[in-house]
Amino acid sequence: VPLGALQIPEAQTASKNTSTSLIRLSLVIPTYNEGENIEYIIQLLSLLLDAVLPNAYELIVVDDDSPDLTWKVALSLVSKYPQLRVMRRVEERGLSTAVIRGWQVARGEVLGVIDGDLQHPPELLLQLWGKMQRGADLAVASRHVENGGVSDWSIVRRFLSRGAQLIGLMVLPGVVGRVSDPMSGYFLVRHDCLAGKMLNPLGYKILIEVLGRGNISWIAEVGYVFQERQEGMSKVTWKQYVEYLRHLLKLRLSLWPVGRFIRFGAVGLSGVFVHMAVFYLLRSELEWGLTRSAVIAAEVAIINNFLWNDRWTFGDISSQQKGWSKRFKRLLKFNIICLAGLVLNVTILNLLFNLLGINEYIANLIAIATVTFWNFWINLKLSWRV
Ligand code: GDD
Ligand code: MN
Repeated sequence: VPLGALQIPEAQTASKNTSTSLIRLSLVIPTYNEGENIEYIIQLLSLLLDAVLPNAYELIVVDDDSPDLTWKVALSLVSKYPQLRVMRRVEERGLSTAVIRGWQVARGEVLGVIDGDLQHPPELLLQLWGKMQRGADLAVASRHVENGGVSDWSIVRRFLSRGAQLIGLMVLPGVVGRVSDPMSGYFLVRHDCLAGKMLNPLGYKILIEVLGRGNISWIAEVGYVFQERQEGMSKVTWKQYVEYLRHLLKLRLSLWPVGRFIRFGAVGLSGVFVHMAVFYLLRSELEWGLTRSAVIAAEVAIINNFLWNDRWTFGDISSQQKGWSKRFKRLLKFNIICLAGLVLNVTILNLLFNLLGINEYIANLIAIATVTFWNFWINLKLSWRV
């Protein structure tokens, strides 16, 4: 468990309880000093949602003990808006943790988040909800698709925003590149996609965490114009930019399959011993030819490695793809990829030794390291693909 990570619970049993009606949408509104905005946004959201999801939604305000007593204002609204819940946090601070804390107590099938300062147009929620109903796993309000934009941001602010996105694309292309506006803090996501997941609550950009760790296949986007703030102040300082970079790196490292790679390497090492043992047996006991012995020994080692990798290194994936024919297909792919790796090994060795004049042992070491990465990565993508 990564330090400070917060887990999204599995589907709540509370919703199965007959006394509580089924909640379809839980929308979290993180607030810090939004005392001047909170009443209006609750009013607008309730009006919208009472029409589409009467009694089947909940609004969860998560306030970090705001000095302007936002939580108190919110609490005073509960009698008028029965779908409203208020969480006042005194020990913790931060936008992302606030959102996750809200989701942890949420009962809805769909989780969501919207800023509490009216910069996110509430009426867009209906379009986002529509996307979820058509089967999306994640519906994101985006400034960078049709009908999207920012009101009148300075050149500097636009540059910073796009720069942050660009850095994200370089560090985590497979995560940040999945949506047009990865910085968005206005989205809905199916609870199922996050159930049981550990979310790391560093920083401001919770969507990146959702994309990186959730089981999300279908993503929908809806354009919106980021409104100017009417009341209160933004809480963004340079600190949020530094946190964002730390967040990207942390996610990058944790998404690399380090443990898997170590297991793969250990299995590879066992293969070396199997290879040598079989080679010895064939040569000295059966007195077979050199090439024939080497080829047979290599094939036995490949099968040895496959069995271990299928059970151990990629055991979690194999167990989801059972059956002999599937297993055999994986073996076939693994075999071909490893043989291609062998060709790659010899090629690299020749290039480094003959062309660059590098010492042959060092050259072979480099070749082996490269091929280990190749074998691991290609097999991860092709043989044990999820
Ligand atoms: N509970 C809690 N704790 N809420 C917080 C905290 C905190 O530490 N910091 C900020 N918030 C709340 C604010 O009260 C507001 O409702 C919301 O989070 C967004 O904060 P702002 O400070 O208004 O952020 P912004 O408008 O500059 O930044 C927004 O930029 C994105 C566009 O790139 C983000 O918040 C995104 O949600 C938004 O889409
Ligand atoms: Mn704002």
